[in-house]
Amino acid sequence: MQIVRQMGPLRDALRDIRRKKSNVGLVPTMGALHAGHMKLVEAAMERCDGVVASIFVNPTQFGEGEDLDAYPRQEAADAALLEAAGVDLIWAPTVDQIYPEGFATNVSVSGISTGLCGGSRPGHFDGVATVVAKLFNQIRPDAAFFGEKDYQQLAVIKRMASDLDFTHDIIGVPTVRDPDGLALSSRNAYLTPEQRRQAVALPDMMRDAADAIVRGGDIDNILKDAQAKLLASGFHEIDYFELRNAETLENMPIFKKPARLLAAAHIGRTRLIDNIAVA
Ligand code: PAF
Repeated sequence: MQIVRQMGPLRDALRDIRRKKSNVGLVPTMGALHAGHMKLVEAAMERCDGVVASIFVNPTQFGEGEDLDAYPRQEAADAALLEAAGVDLIWAPTVDQIYPEGFATNVSVSGISTGLCGGSRPGHFDGVATVVAKLFNQIRPDAAFFGEKDYQQLAVIKRMASDLDFTHDIIGVPTVRDPDGLALSSRNAYLTPEQRRQAVALPDMMRDAADAIVRGGDIDNILKDAQAKLLASGFHEIDYFELRNAETLENMPIFKKPARLLAAAHIGRTRLIDNIAVA
């Protein structure tokens, strides 16, 4: 397995892979890999003959005061995991390979990027869409794999790919959870043992709320009640806890399938997000 950091060697490596493999899957990551990422790799290996993983901590998707500098970086450990999984190539570009001097382009997906994480992290999805468009053009994969854990991100990328005529498949892979239900995230590493115990309230309250919505309860009351319980369980701020159309992410005042419950809340210095189907 090769690790390349510059466009020249990337082109050579891709040419080599395409000579031997019938199709190529891309798993874009920011590193600090956990079992959730490895599930994406697994899905890519199942569907594609060759697999490229990218590792790039994308500065433009972090807002001021967010955790760009503190974001966990562990390339050697990540590379060992990817090699053991059978990945063909790691694309770990230097910043100038993504944002060369004079870079002036911004990919902005309106509508679906607003509200939810787009509301609490202004500019975040422009950063994501821009870097993902760039990675798609650099790798030209046959399929690209993203976690459903970042549900709005997946929706933004699907919209962007369709709008910009990227013809490869965009595959959403279900969220991987710890046995107690907490969704795996690189940011879970920031939690103290006590916060980690309390954090399970997020998936618990989401499941309770989803069940109550399906039973036909009043959506407003259910969402308010779930948030109050979350705040009583150790979370100190809730960015959103909302029921949305699972495909368009539009608001859903009256329950109708397909529906998705999405939440983001802060515990200690960590912001956790999660989402589940309401069905
Ligand atoms: O989900 C992530 O890790 C990132 O947002 C992505 C898609 C790799 C873009 O930087």
